[in-house]
Parts: sequence; C-alpha cells; structure tokens
Amino acid sequence: MLPLKNTTQRFGVITQLFHWIIAGIIIVNYYLVYRRDYIPETNPDNLAYILLHKALGVTVIILGVLFVIWRLTNTKPLLPSSTPHYEKILAKATHHTLLVLILLMPLTGLLLSVFGGRPTSVFGLFTIPALAEANKEWQTIFYTLHEWISYIIIGLVSLHVLGALKHQFFYKDNVLRRILPVKLK
Ligand code: HEM
Ligand code: HEM
Repeated sequence: MLPLKNTTQRFGVITQLFHWIIAGIIIVNYYLVYRRDYIPETNPDNLAYILLHKALGVTVIILGVLFVIWRLTNTKPLLPSSTPHYEKILAKATHHTLLVLILLMPLTGLLLSVFGGRPTSVFGLFTIPALAEANKEWQTIFYTLHEWISYIIIGLVSLHVLGALKHQFFYKDNVLRRILPVKLK
C-alpha cells in the first residue's frame, strides 16, 4: 500500500496526485494556447480554447497553493547519497523554482486578463472580474511576463525530465519510481 503522506523513502499518494495533476494541466495549457494559433478567429473553438486555458490555469493556482502548503508541512525523501553533490543542489534549485513558477505562471495570466478588461469564468463555478477599464500598459507587462515564464518553465522542465531519466537509466536508483504509484526496488 502506498502511504498517503511522504516518507523518508518516497513521495506519498497526495504529493503524487498534486505533482501529476499540476504537470498534466500545465502541458494541456501549452497545447491549448499553441493549437489555438491554427484555428481561425471566426471558428467558435478559438474562443473555447482560450476560455478553457484560463479556467484550467486558475485551477493550477488553487492546486499550486495547496501543493506548496502540503510540501512545507511534509517530509521530503532525500536524494540517494550516491547522487553527486552539485546535482543535489541543482535538483533542489530546480524544484524550488518550479514550485514558485507553478504559481507565477497562472497568476501573470490572470493579471493579464484582469488588466485586459476580460473576466475569467472558472468552469461556470465562479468568475474573477476584470477591471472596468482595461489598462493596456499593465496588460502588456503581464503578457510579457506570462510569455517569458512560459519559456523558463519549458527549459526547467526539460532539465527536470533529463534529471529523472538520468536517475532511472544511468544511476538506476528509485528516484523516478518514488513519484510514481509503483513499488520501490
Ligand atoms: C498553468 C498555467 C498556465 C500556463 C502553462 C500558460 C501558458 C501560456 C502560454 C505558453 C501562452 C502563450 C504565450 C505566447 O504568446 O508565447 C499563454 C498565453 C495566454 N494565457 Fe496563459 N498559461 C497559464 C495560465 C493562464 C491563466 C490563469 C490565464 C488567465 C486567467 C491565462 C491567460 C492567457 C492569455 C489571455 C494568453 C494570450 C493568448 C493569446 O494572445 O493568444 N493563462 N499562456
Ligand atoms: C510541467 C511539468 C512538471 C512540473 C511543473 C514538475 C514539478 C516538480 C516539482 C516542483 C517537484 C518537487 C516536489 C517536491 O519538492 O516536493 C517535482 C518532483 C519530481 N518530478 Fe516533476 N514536474 C513536472 C514534470 C515531471 C515529469 C514529466 C517527470 C518524469 C519524467 C517528473 C519527475 C519528477 C520526479 C522523479 C520528482 C521527484 C524528485 C525527487 O525525488 O527529489 N516531473 N516535480
């Protein structure tokens, strides 16, 4: 049985759910916004794609805050002692930056909509209002931040995945297994 909470050996079910649901939504959000470029503006799908991008993004803010709280109140399994010291530091820095960017990515998106004068409906459950009068200057600032953070996430997640693969196939340790619902070696 997988533990609910993290142990010194592995991540528990709750961390695994947060990790994979948030990672999954972020990937879907890149797909939606890039795919939208190929849909004519006259096609209603064009609007549907961005509305779904926004609603899923706000969901990431909520899940991200809960993830950070869970992370701060839980043990975290240490990397195996055989991992080189600089890789331990690199992994820690990447994880901490990703945790911050999981929040900043959707927050800048939300603010770009707020200052752009467009309300955000979250699956019809609630709506985050926009400023009555759009402020182009701030909208552009948040758009630029949203775009740059999206590139930084692509870089860091690539590094993150390479790290996971190095542990799996080069060091042949439990690091990838412990964030998956599978038995440890
Ligand atoms: C998981 C969170 C999110 C991710 C990964 C994400 C990712 C992206 C990316 C990659 C772009 C394209 C940037 C470019 O032009 O190069 C974008 C654009 C945009 N995002 Fe997000 N976003 C997220 C959350 C949000 C949220 C919460 C909102 C608003 C409530 C939002 C609103 C927008 C808008 C309005 C655009 C511009 C679309 C366009 O001009 O075609 N995003 N986002
Ligand atoms: C958008 C995609 C992703 C994001 C934002 C993300 C973010 C994170 C964060 C913040 C942590 C640290 C958790 C903590 O400190 O408690 C983490 C851990 C981890 N992630 Fe990801 N991740 C993503 C995708 C992936 C993918 C695709 C893989 C596998 C190929 C992966 C494998 C892992 C592993 C193995 C750990 C645990 C590392 C350890 O044991 O110290 N992640 N991820």
